[in-house]
Amino acid sequence: MARSRLIAGNWKMNGSRESARALATAIAGVPARSGVMVVVCPPFALLDVVAAALRGSAVALGAQDCHTAAQGAFTGDVAAPLLAECGCGYVIVGHSERRQYHGETDAAVAAKALAAQAAGLIPILCVGETLAERDAGRAETVVAAQIAGSLAGALDPARLVLAYEPVWAIGTGRVPAPADIAAIHQTARHSLTTRFAAAGDDVPVLYGGSVKGGNAAELLAIAGVDGALVGGAALDAGEFAAIIAAA
Ligand code: PGA
Repeated sequence: MARSRLIAGNWKMNGSRESARALATAIAGVPARSGVMVVVCPPFALLDVVAAALRGSAVALGAQDCHTAAQGAFTGDVAAPLLAECGCGYVIVGHSERRQYHGETDAAVAAKALAAQAAGLIPILCVGETLAERDAGRAETVVAAQIAGSLAGALDPARLVLAYEPVWAIGTGRVPAPADIAAIHQTARHSLTTRFAAAGDDVPVLYGGSVKGGNAAELLAIAGVDGALVGGAALDAGEFAAIIAAA
């Protein structure tokens, strides 16, 4: 069975209520493509505006992070069940900016993925090597270790998305060579089938890092790439629509 294609937009810490409404309305108006799931992940405080703008469209809503607990004394954090109540179907966990600026470990990411699934959300779990790790020839080892460390417990592979995002390609305009992306995706697939047996074959694996309208067709054609996690270009409805069209 062919894996489903997924294009996810990570808006990061961008947008106002007015700009988010306009962007989400424009994305909701992009013609749906059969077999291609589209998700947008705005900041927490914009989830309600974006949910309202997406209502009636096939575009799903996602968040950019969640806590491991369902509630409690965790100032500033947001629980997965509340995200579900806000209309989210997805949540990004373990983005490199969370790992880098908030010290998130593989163990923390694993717990977040489980919490997301417990709340009925599909985690989009991110992994990826730094430039130093790639230059040292360790990219595949690092990504395999991150995947192994971030998939814990009774995680359901049928409700999981993996995203390979080399840290050095995020927001830089630099993209790995197609053969390097294919190699990591093969490593990721091997890690998934080692962990989940045959069910690991059905987990979509996205590529992320400087995906634009102009390079999306080439990136999405690489063996093993099931979709894209898009940052900067997801803030421009025209660019995002071009990426969806290339999927
Ligand atoms: P970028 O970000 O598309 O701006 O490189 C991707 C991401 O961080 O998810």
